[in-house]
Amino acid sequence: MKSNPLGSDVLKRRAVALIFQRHSTRTRVSFETGIVELGGHPMILRTEDTQLARGESIRDTAYVLSRNAAAIGIRTGPDELVRELAQYATVPVVNMLTADHHPCQALADLLTLKENFGELDGLKLAYVGDGNNVARSLAIVGALAGVEIAIAAPDGYQLEPVAGAELTADPYEAVKNANAVYTDVWVSMNDSPETAAARSEALHPYQLNDELLAAAAPGAIALHCLPAHPGDEITEQVLYGERQRIWDQAENRRHGQKALLELLCA
Ligand code: CP
Repeated sequence: MKSNPLGSDVLKRRAVALIFQRHSTRTRVSFETGIVELGGHPMILRTEDTQLARGESIRDTAYVLSRNAAAIGIRTGPDELVRELAQYATVPVVNMLTADHHPCQALADLLTLKENFGELDGLKLAYVGDGNNVARSLAIVGALAGVEIAIAAPDGYQLEPVAGAELTADPYEAVKNANAVYTDVWVSMNDSPETAAARSEALHPYQLNDELLAAAAPGAIALHCLPAHPGDEITEQVLYGERQRIWDQAENRRHGQKALLELLCA
């Protein structure tokens, strides 16, 4: 998909419904552009513009969207809502982010690793910071691809045991021999702003900076799913430095999702 962006018209004259119940920059632009490149029409549905905002059920929404679209994407909070949508939809449903998962981001992350290192199997990725939806999806998708995942987070911010990921409180232990060091914001869309000060204090030792990156494997790259807060979870030097592949990662959202849509809709 990346080397031949217009090589598939799997969505020719078909629409994909994209429900946004949360803010987005990358997810929206990458899905919109990707669907157009596949020959289709991205049907953007912001909740407040639909009958969902006036109480229409997910079940009825699933029935109607399935009669009009080749696939449905949804960005929301509760995972149960996505499961319910998938239960009643008769077309594929794609999770474009929930409180617990961000699988499309993980696809882009694997593509970024693959184009940097050639093979995925045997690589190690260290995630440092908040054990959130991005970390969980990396653990799950990484395990499927043979990528060892280590997650360093402080007490109270660590993931539950998931997909065999190594869980530690020590960021330097996590990055040992890691080919990529990854972080994400400390206050996500699903976190209460009132917790920001406490989160910042607890997570500050997990900042992705030059010192931490130097403790990873030689040639390790820095990753971040964005949006970034330079000076908090990542330093400006790393975010814009030579070892980051963060902007490739953002672009790779489009290519990974196009491959997913071709797989689901062909
Ligand atoms: N990484 C990511 O999901 O970005 P957006 O929130 O801008 O879509």
